[in-house]
Amino acid sequence: MSIFSFLNKSKSNEPDIGYLKTDVHSHLIPAIDDGVQTIEQSLEILREMETLGYSKVITTPHTMTGSYDNTPEIINGGLERVKKAVDSEGINIELAAATEYFLDETFMERLEKDEPLMTFGENLVLVETSFISPPPQLKEASFQLTMKGYKMVFAHPERYIYLLEDKTLLEELIDRDIIFQLNAVALTGCYSKPVKKFAEKLIDMRIPRLVGTDCHNMGHIDLLKEATQTKYWKKLLELELLNNSL
Ligand SMILES: [Fe+2]
Repeated sequence: MSIFSFLNKSKSNEPDIGYLKTDVHSHLIPAIDDGVQTIEQSLEILREMETLGYSKVITTPHTMTGSYDNTPEIINGGLERVKKAVDSEGINIELAAATEYFLDETFMERLEKDEPLMTFGENLVLVETSFISPPPQLKEASFQLTMKGYKMVFAHPERYIYLLEDKTLLEELIDRDIIFQLNAVALTGCYSKPVKKFAEKLIDMRIPRLVGTDCHNMGHIDLLKEATQTKYWKKLLELELLNNSL
């Protein structure tokens, strides 16, 4: 089914999220980061995501040294608990997990030590940075990831104020082997008006290749529904997105 037949089929007020199929960014493993804290919260969100049309959720708890010292063992252990609960509740969503790495010295050490990274799709690695200033290792990290056979997924680029203010850096990153992952909720203006405008600009430039909910709580589900009613939602779905190939 082409995107256009899908869009025509959906009634104007119904979110057409099913076209995306897979969500690639969320915090739905209880009590290991700033996302959901209980299994019940996790199930409530996943039930809602199923209703919205998602059939797969790749959840991505933070890995941030000193704040969220997660490991693949912790994340995969949590994933199994959520999967069991999802099964026993009869929620029809395929669940998988990766992580959202914070790009800092510790991340560079992981690369230096050849530590196996948590990935999704074809060796995709979700990476976030400070919102205020670019990490000095940003370009080196993307280079090292490529050298090691990974591909960097740049989480919510629209939220990085430093990128909004630095056209040269934006162009340099676009030229690299980096996949830009936009947060759908940014289209509502929930982060700020400049972030919303930057998200729209990135869509106009046809930069995002992945869309994520970055869902931490039910509030994000409400924002997601609101995002599907914005002018840029359809423009976003018209991009060459990778979500439904994952
Ligand atoms: Fe996140």
